[in-house]
Amino acid sequence: RTVAVVLAGGTGTRLGLGIPKQLLKIAGKPIIEHTLAVFESAPEIDEIIVLMATGHVADAQQIVDKAGFRKVSKVIEGGETRNATTRAALDAVGDGDVNILFHDAVRPLVSARIVRECVNALWSYSAVDVAIPSADTIIQVDEDECITDIPVRSRLRRGQTPQAFRSGTIREAYRRAEGDPDFAATDDCGVVLRYLPGTPIKVIDGSDENIKVTHPVDVHLADKLFQLAAAQAPRLSHRSYTEELAGRTIVIFGGS
Ligand code: CTP
Repeated sequence: RTVAVVLAGGTGTRLGLGIPKQLLKIAGKPIIEHTLAVFESAPEIDEIIVLMATGHVADAQQIVDKAGFRKVSKVIEGGETRNATTRAALDAVGDGDVNILFHDAVRPLVSARIVRECVNALWSYSAVDVAIPSADTIIQVDEDECITDIPVRSRLRRGQTPQAFRSGTIREAYRRAEGDPDFAATDDCGVVLRYLPGTPIKVIDGSDENIKVTHPVDVHLADKLFQLAAAQAPRLSHRSYTEELAGRTIVIFGGS
């Protein structure tokens, strides 16, 4: 069984809208609805669990009901931090061996290809990440904003989601993390890397389109990407056109 966990417990302070950004409408639908549609139509996914920001669980449930997403089994409250939301999701998934994909609700342009490759990689690996090369040089700075290191760019990647795990691995990593007073992580692969060292974490190719709506400019970019996809494939289902999108080179804002 493969469960997709859609992490929507954040409030989007960097976007600063007054509503959680996953409820913002892009291309005619709330961002989270686009995201859920990808997992709903992915044949590899059996069940979807949504973790929503406090005070907005009913909004998310309404979106699910209206869209008729049949794979969504639970819409529940997330935690204070992203990792607390993951913990709540692990409780909601229940016991037994399952594959779990954690995905940011605010990455609505994830493709069917990425979901498929994550699930397939779980046959050989117990932890899987999705990432893309970095076009920018990444610099490391200290508290005074002075450079302390410039790692070799060709070995750097920008992490996206989904992050996929066999349930035993991610549960054990979080169980060990519980005993650590210094626990801090911004993603789930980081928890496995730190608390289950030696576990190979396979990285599969993400895509430039799989952006995380974070800053105001991302809203325009995501909107444009949906428009382009819809214009190119007006009669395709959401699943097909996101797949199309992943295989296409998009020239926008001078990038590819
Ligand atoms: N997330 C979550 N639970 C939290 C915090 C974040 O499920 N307590 C989710 C967000 O809803 C989002 C994803 O993790 O889908 C990525 O996080 P981020 O972009 O940082 O979202 P926010 O926390 O909402 O944004 P900000 O940091 O600007 O407040």
